[in-house]
Amino acid sequence: MSGIAHAGQPLAVPAVVGPSMLWYITRATGIVALVLLTGTVMLGVIGTARAASQRWPRIVTASLHQNLGLTAAALVGVHVVTTVLDPFAPIGLVSAFIPFSSPYRPLWLSLGTVAFDLLLAVLVTSLLRDRLSHRAWQAVHLLVYACWPAALWHGLGTGTDSRLPWVLAIDLACMAAVAWAAWWRLSLAASPAVRGTGLTALAVLPVLTAAFVIEGPLRPGWALRAGTPPALLGRAPATAADGSGTSGGAGRAAVRLVNARFTGTVTVTAGPGEHRRTVTITGRTVVAPAERIAIVLHGAPSGGGVSLTDGTVRIGGAGAPAWSGPVVALAGADLVASVSGPGGRRQARFTLAISGRSVTGTVSLLTGGE
Ligand code: HEM
Repeated sequence: MSGIAHAGQPLAVPAVVGPSMLWYITRATGIVALVLLTGTVMLGVIGTARAASQRWPRIVTASLHQNLGLTAAALVGVHVVTTVLDPFAPIGLVSAFIPFSSPYRPLWLSLGTVAFDLLLAVLVTSLLRDRLSHRAWQAVHLLVYACWPAALWHGLGTGTDSRLPWVLAIDLACMAAVAWAAWWRLSLAASPAVRGTGLTALAVLPVLTAAFVIEGPLRPGWALRAGTPPALLGRAPATAADGSGTSGGAGRAAVRLVNARFTGTVTVTAGPGEHRRTVTITGRTVVAPAERIAIVLHGAPSGGGVSLTDGTVRIGGAGAPAWSGPVVALAGADLVASVSGPGGRRQARFTLAISGRSVTGTVSLLTGGE
């Protein structure tokens, strides 16, 4: 036990459950809801076109359309609840219904709010369909053609995963599917004016979306430009106490990591020495510019995990100044290291959530008394 003051229990590798479970659910339900919404739109158009065959009667399309729509709405409900419950960002229940009521990425979050409001309107009028005229019901139902792009742009603008190739591939596939459905629907529309406007939108929107993705989420610094409050960026503005000043051009020593989220991987290898294990955690903070994180822990196998004895931490690097130093405390999922770097000595605090070979968590780089 050289140097780590810890609670004595083995670090469960892999089994630590952290507070970011809500965040995972928000991200997962958002993506799946968008896919289900896409399927619902397609089935709606297939139903309107009265397309059917002997093996696929219209009743199947209609009931699938309804059930998929209800499932999508339920998932959006979970998405909203986990967003509100997650203490990371200041997003209250009001922000689920009223656009621009949260300081967190206001425009991009509000597009989700608008999509949610439109979805609720479509859902409620569909449940009350028997009491409404067909015209009124249809007028509201057509709002899905505004709901869907609002949801897509919301996800692209505020999603953590929206830059990942496989998420972009899903978005692209969904966009192609909805464009196809909208094109088919427009070919059924009687009015040439509606058809003309719709076809123009169909030509312009994918180009605008591609330009937005390239210039927005795919560019470094998107989190800041999207309107994330600085305190949440994991990079609070420089303070005089950091000896850095506040104007542009302040070096990396000038910034502090505060509850910066990171993701990475965990590997457990044998050694050094007999009956010893090395747990290596490598990752990056999720906000740009990403800081590299490397945590190396040593210990002995114990139960299903590893009882840790010592370790080191390194933050930054790859051509940029880094902070590094020994782990000084470990309690459950919380790890503290005493690191030194360009800004002098700091305390690095981690919260780790390990699941399988993946790790997520937060890191703060604090001056002594914080
Ligand atoms: C029809 C309604 C909605 C749909 C289809 C939808 C879909 C999505 C999608 C696809 C993502 C991206 C997930 C990722 O790539 O990580 C996302 C992210 C997000 N959504 Fe929604 N959303 C909707 C409404 C809302 C509402 C009303 C709120 C909050 C009040 C909300 C809060 C969020 C937040 C906070 C994120 C970012 C999660 C993260 O940090 O990655 N969404 N949403």
